[in-house]
Amino acid sequence: MRSNRNIVLVGFMGTGKSSVGKRVAQRLDRLFVDMDEWIEEWEKRSISDIFREEGEAYFRQRERELVQELATREGLVIAAGGGVVLDPDNIQDLSRNGIVVCLTATSEVIIERTARESHRPLLEEGKKAESIKRVLSDRASFYDSIPHQIDTTGLTLDEVVARIIALSDN
Ligand code: S3P
Repeated sequence: MRSNRNIVLVGFMGTGKSSVGKRVAQRLDRLFVDMDEWIEEWEKRSISDIFREEGEAYFRQRERELVQELATREGLVIAAGGGVVLDPDNIQDLSRNGIVVCLTATSEVIIERTARESHRPLLEEGKKAESIKRVLSDRASFYDSIPHQIDTTGLTLDEVVARIIALSDN
């Protein structure tokens, strides 16, 4: 029988957590939770507005509260925000009732995937490539510490989905 543990996707912005998560949820007939979207719904404003009006620390607090709530549930597929790994308590809580999988990609792929977007407050407009490389390297140890890793570079969406489902079956 399939386990009902949550499947939690973490990883840097642009590694495909949301698109992959949506499809995994469809395949397994589970509820998909995009943490950023839930926070936007709670707050009735966009992530960019929350960062601008309240600052990053406030956003991290809301993110922490949502992790605590989600860690009490089961059967979910969760796409976490890229910074969720920064607080080790988040990973500990999410791992209690879930399998946490870190999606990775090269900085070149991330730069390409995020090129046409403007909703990510941590990436400085006009200096996106530089900020991606800087934040990626600052956070490398956090992402590297997650035991399950899938490098999405060169994989199709369906290939990534299949690997996650295989991992969650074990
Ligand atoms: C963040 C990533 C974003 C969002 C916020 C902060 C980060 O989520 O939570 O802008 O610190 O890496 P995505 O990874 O879904 O873009």
